[in-house]
Amino acid sequence: MAEQAAPAAVLAMRAVSKTFGGVQALRDVSFAVRAGEVHCLAGENGSGKSTLIKIATGVYSADAGAEIDIAGRHVTAPTPGLARRLGVSVIWQDLALFPEMTVAENIAFEALLGARPRLASQRQLRETAERALGRLGVTLDLTAPLRSLPIAKRQIVAIARALVGETKLIFMDEPTASLTRNETDHLLQIVRNLSASGVAVVFVSHRLAEVLEIAEAVTVLRDGGLVGVFPAEGMTQSRLTELMTGQTFDSAVSARDRGTAPAVLELRGLTRSGEYQDIDLTIRAGETVGITGLIGAGRTELGHTLFGMNRPGRGEIRLHGKPVSFRSNKDAIRAGIAYVSEDRLSLGLIQPQSIADNLALPVLDRLLSLGLISPRRKTALVDGWIRDLAVKIGKPEDPVSTLSGGNQQRIVLAKWLATEPRLLILDAPTVGVDVGARAGIFAIIRRLAEQGLAILLISDEAPEVHFNADRVLHMAGGRIVEEFDPRETSLAALELAVYA
Ligand SMILES: Nc1ncnc2c1ncn2[C@@H]1O[C@H](COP(=O)(O)OP(=O)(O)O)[C@@H](O)[C@H]1O
Ligand SMILES: [Mg+2]
Repeated sequence: MAEQAAPAAVLAMRAVSKTFGGVQALRDVSFAVRAGEVHCLAGENGSGKSTLIKIATGVYSADAGAEIDIAGRHVTAPTPGLARRLGVSVIWQDLALFPEMTVAENIAFEALLGARPRLASQRQLRETAERALGRLGVTLDLTAPLRSLPIAKRQIVAIARALVGETKLIFMDEPTASLTRNETDHLLQIVRNLSASGVAVVFVSHRLAEVLEIAEAVTVLRDGGLVGVFPAEGMTQSRLTELMTGQTFDSAVSARDRGTAPAVLELRGLTRSGEYQDIDLTIRAGETVGITGLIGAGRTELGHTLFGMNRPGRGEIRLHGKPVSFRSNKDAIRAGIAYVSEDRLSLGLIQPQSIADNLALPVLDRLLSLGLISPRRKTALVDGWIRDLAVKIGKPEDPVSTLSGGNQQRIVLAKWLATEPRLLILDAPTVGVDVGARAGIFAIIRRLAEQGLAILLISDEAPEVHFNADRVLHMAGGRIVEEFDPRETSLAALELAVYA
């Protein structure tokens, strides 16, 4: 057998297979992580990433024949306790924290459970928690109950807990799925710091730009099999997508010239100190303008301003030729602007509520009849959009949480389109949407543009803007630094400009 693990491997897994009943979740997979490395585990939904993590951390046992070494020690089948003692920790998607316990207890409790004296003193808890947070460069109120913290802070608590003890490797399974861009930025910095201090991090994420920004190596899984291990350097998003899906990327550029259509949105010298500067931009009816750039380039902040969520310090916004100033997003919605944010999972949809209720929410006033919601109008609206956007659902009364990421995103789009906007702002519209389902979302977006909608497409996935926008603006450090015509510039050139 080929020996893949370098001498300094903290984790080396070989010949790992796993079957659940009739489903083969993993087939003869090898996976190795070096000390202090940031390693990305990439693959579409269902490709086996979480199963591999669960085997490495002792939650599942692999089928016979697997070989696992942790920190140079051969362990046939690690238990969660043994994996942890050998320095392998994991942060689960749901974080697995205790909401009623304090920050300090959540971080240190587990580690001190086995300690003597059996009942850890408050001082010990506090000191252990402080040390772990200190390694992350974060201060939190140690006595606050966990439930009082926002999700990003809870995640930091989970990372701190994972650091307690002689941790050599931390698995993070989709840690940025429900974070905003700023929070993601902070998390990526923490991952870099961990790596610099010698702790290896295995990172699972759907955001390919983020993956390529942070990882040194990428292991790609497809349908439970290993596609390969690749250096992140020189890897592009389009190549990674091909490796994950096994399909060659549809390379049809959709860019068209909309030079004569009336301007819907015009920005002149728009500036918000510390976020974006001197933004000049025109979007015409039927035009899709893409903005890409690295995390922290100021794109999302610009989108927030256009949707009335923060005010520019300087400069002008014109809609259909008239200057506008929004005090809130209500003003923006009234002016015909819709905004689909990257925070679909926390802001765009109310997960426990029904598909129908989520869809009808922004247009309730139009469904009123004699002061009550007309069930007939509501059904007509909901059925119409579900048919129009080909959303795959069971019943409109099902909770929206029962839908896949791609279908949830269609509901978000439908919800906003029901407001009949003239300008649609899309910020990271495919975050959490399977690579395979993204094409369907973009087919809808293209159709909307054909119907005359002006679209601002913000994305850190260069291929998304390259293939779907008429013009691509590269934003860096709060400024638009370059404009690309996708018909004249290759995707590779765009990726080089943005990521190099
Ligand atoms: N506990 C389980 N029981 C049955 N099937 C499972 C179980 N866990 C995962 N699977 C199946 O194994 C495959 C891989 O799943 P998973 O490892 O969760 O993928 P990923 O994390 O890459 O999305 C999927 O087909 C999934 O349905
Ligand atoms: Mg998973």
